Amino acid sequence: MMNKIRTAVVGLGFIGARHIDAIRRIGNAEIAAVADLNPNAVKKFSGDFGIAGYTDYTELLENERIDVLHNCTPNSLHFEVNKAAIVKGVNIYSEKPLAATIEQGEELVRLANECKAANAVNFNYRANPAVMEMRERVQNGAAGRCYLIHGSYMQDWLSEETDYDWRVAESGNGPRALADIGSHWFDLAQFVYGKRIASVCAAPFIAHNTRQKPDGERVAVENDDGASVLIRFEDGLTANLVVSQVSAGYKNSVSISVDCQNYSMRWQQQDADKLVIGKRDGGEERVYAASQYFHGEAKRWAFLPNGHAAGWSEALFNAIAMYYENVFMKTAHPACASFSDALEVMRVVSACAASGKEKRFVDIY
Ligand SMILES: NC(=O)c1ccc[n+]([C@@H]2O[C@H](COP(=O)([O-])OP(=O)(O)OC[C@H]3O[C@@H](n4cnc5c(N)ncnc54)[C@H](O)[C@@H]3O)[C@@H](O)[C@H]2O)c1
Repeated sequence: MMNKIRTAVVGLGFIGARHIDAIRRIGNAEIAAVADLNPNAVKKFSGDFGIAGYTDYTELLENERIDVLHNCTPNSLHFEVNKAAIVKGVNIYSEKPLAATIEQGEELVRLANECKAANAVNFNYRANPAVMEMRERVQNGAAGRCYLIHGSYMQDWLSEETDYDWRVAESGNGPRALADIGSHWFDLAQFVYGKRIASVCAAPFIAHNTRQKPDGERVAVENDDGASVLIRFEDGLTANLVVSQVSAGYKNSVSISVDCQNYSMRWQQQDADKLVIGKRDGGEERVYAASQYFHGEAKRWAFLPNGHAAGWSEALFNAIAMYYENVFMKTAHPACASFSDALEVMRVVSACAASGKEKRFVDIY
């Protein structure tokens, strides 16, 4: 009998807790250890469940036999935690972004290959069945030639000047909303279309030049609250994106429209279990995310019956389950984003930042 896959989660904030939930839904994996700087978080997720808990993740790596480490720490720690796991030969599932700089990202891709550590970055929106179906229809030719891709990623949790988060401090004068949520959309567009983004022209904006921290201190803000971005893919296809974390009423609104010869395909994360097909003749068709309506890989991962709305949590579960299958069952689910995929997204975000400063299109390839 095979032993259960032993997993560790480092960083037990919002997304770390969601990873734990998703891992528990995978039958052959168990949470063996957790780590967080905050002892209360460690206690919450370890004490009562016979799970080893650490406030120092390096001790966790030293003491525990781990098959997969989930890196759910703040962005500035991704490089060091990913690297520490890889050089110990531990497989790694990292939160985005892969690292803080392109050089760090390149080093991680190289090290992961050298140390044969199976690697993935959590671009979880790829793993929504409706998104996979869009990709399927582009790839199998059903949608016809693509004319245009457009969309947005909008939130409102930083709309007030008293809204503050570690992302504001960590980002310095580098990209923030573009990196935090724009990165998801760039990955989504590249995944669905199956081609790389080759150049961008970005106009970032800052809604609040200063923000007030919870302790009352007022700090200057030099990173973007959002941006408008013109995009060219490597084959010349044009796309555009609006990113914002200050748009009141938009919670986690990720939308993408892929407008093709035979129809357009529209998907909205907050209505995740439907793919809207827009037709020149015959109006709109709303296709429920269910295996009987979907094709290829999307069929299997639409595992709930139609009307039993699969949402954000199911997509996160799918993304993590696909990674575990790729690593331990030697499958190759394309919706699982590798470190190399994540490095490409970093190049796009970095080009956006350069474009915003230089006020021109910046080429990536
Ligand atoms: N894929 C997604 O949809 C998604 C959504 C949210 C966040 N994220 C990513 O997840 C990461 C974490 O974001 P979050 O929203 O959960 O943040 P958070 O602030 O809620 O949680 C971060 C946790 O990391 C802990 N931490 C800080 N330093 C640590 C260290 N040295 N060792 C161990 N733990 C440490 C903190 O105590 C905190 O509990 C970010 O990189 C973010 O980009 C991804």
